[in-house]
Amino acid sequence: MITIYKTKNYEELSRKTADIISAQLILKPHSVLGLATGSSPIGTYKELVRRCSEGTIDFSKVSTVNLDEYRGISGDNDQSYRYFMNTNLFDHVNIDKTKTNVPDGMATDSDAECERYDSVVSSMNGVDIQLLGIGHDGHIGFNEPCETFPKGTHVVKLTETTIKANSRLFASVDDVPREALTMGIGTIMAAKCVVLIASGKDKAEIVKKAFFGEVTPLIPASILQFHKNAILVADEDALSECNI
Ligand code: F6R
Repeated sequence: MITIYKTKNYEELSRKTADIISAQLILKPHSVLGLATGSSPIGTYKELVRRCSEGTIDFSKVSTVNLDEYRGISGDNDQSYRYFMNTNLFDHVNIDKTKTNVPDGMATDSDAECERYDSVVSSMNGVDIQLLGIGHDGHIGFNEPCETFPKGTHVVKLTETTIKANSRLFASVDDVPREALTMGIGTIMAAKCVVLIASGKDKAEIVKKAFFGEVTPLIPASILQFHKNAILVADEDALSECNI
């Protein structure tokens, strides 16, 4: 079942998503949050930081698992997703960093790292809320369009569309890593609740396909139509192709 929240703009979207996460933390202080990087959740993280500094929410008992990490980049590299999470959220809230998990992009044996990451996730008794963005090709995490829905954490080769989209954050397109480690679709679907956030006209076409079109691994986010508790928080621009 999908619940859709339509917001006026990115700011309202960020507040609404922060409301959902705050409610979760208030109801269950030991929550396990599945987190995403990218532009979409930055406003949400800012709002969570603000609420935490005001004392409205508390991260002291929270554990987190991130969706993905570039392969071949270490956590202190400012392009890594670990660095992104530290600087956008973890460094500014009262979280115990030893309870925050991001796949290790520098692991020499990536397959072993994927297995390790899956056992970390399964040791947590379920992710309470998994936050997601959506790529222009419908990817969630780094699960790119393919023939089947991948189950667990695995290594992926990034598509040209994703490399191009992510190059905005690098000095040049050649600097964008070509591979990443990502949770699988199976892991994402196992979360008790998934919250996908989408903002901007450039996401309108893929939001329509993913949430109102055929469920297919060619549009990985479309599987969320089968999730028992999926929430789409999208602004008017991202919903502009949908009749709602
Ligand atoms: C990031 C991630 C990606 C992004 C997606 C959208 O951890 O898993 O799937 O959510 O690429 O990125 P933005 O939000 O930058 O448009």
